[in-house]
Amino acid sequence: MEVVIVEDAAKGGALVAQAIARLLAGRPDALIGVATGSTPVPVYEALAALARRGEADLSRARVAQLDEYVGLPPGHPESYRSVLARQVLEPLGVPEGSFLGPDTAGDIRAACEAYDRALAAAGGVDLQLLGIGTDGHIGFNEPCSSLTSRTRIKTLTERTRADNARFFGHDVGQVPRHVITQGVGTILEARHVVLLATGEAKAEAVAATVEGPLSARCPSSALQLHPHATVVADEAAASRLELAGYFRRTFAGKPPWQGI
Ligand code: F6R
Repeated sequence: MEVVIVEDAAKGGALVAQAIARLLAGRPDALIGVATGSTPVPVYEALAALARRGEADLSRARVAQLDEYVGLPPGHPESYRSVLARQVLEPLGVPEGSFLGPDTAGDIRAACEAYDRALAAAGGVDLQLLGIGTDGHIGFNEPCSSLTSRTRIKTLTERTRADNARFFGHDVGQVPRHVITQGVGTILEARHVVLLATGEAKAEAVAATVEGPLSARCPSSALQLHPHATVVADEAAASRLELAGYFRRTFAGKPPWQGI
């Protein structure tokens, strides 16, 4: 696992956006797995800036959803499908037909299985962008999720619902209890997994991800099993890493052409 410590969220966003632009330069129709929430916003903003300058072309890119709330009415502004339309598809010029996501309207179990099949049929995810929950979830794989899990329905912890209440007028009662999420095993099939973490609230989870034991108690620790996993953390999120000095020296000595 590579750990890159950046000054702040904007620098992290720029670094990840460059990695996506570089991937697209070599493979214009790459399948990019996208997360929602606050953390990836600087990535999407930096990517939009690169696209405006002609340094990233997303016109042939394909985009795959990581997770989705269950139970919100169709078109709800906080459904992740709506959020991704606002933050990714529209500003980055990704055609609607290039979007892959689970169908939450009908038979949920069938939709989850169909989504895993659709990801595989699309050739698999080239780069999966992840945030991290304060409890160590990736996607919405809450603590004690199987590390080999597939896309399925999950129940959010009360901590995650409280964390996400800010998107629902600070009313935790409005936050859905159930979600569909790519499983940990599904996520690990992406060719490159990039986890971005920003802010002090993520410091404990980042330390558990990188330096803790491999354990379903902290689902993000499964990234230790991935041959190409990159954790990009700002100073605050990296503040509990015992090996921070080593990670800083390693990245500083890396030739720029190598990227992340
Ligand atoms: C959302 C997702 C979640 C978030 C996590 C952190 O698609 O997959 O794992 O990344 O809950 O959320 P923020 O970034 O809002 O702190």
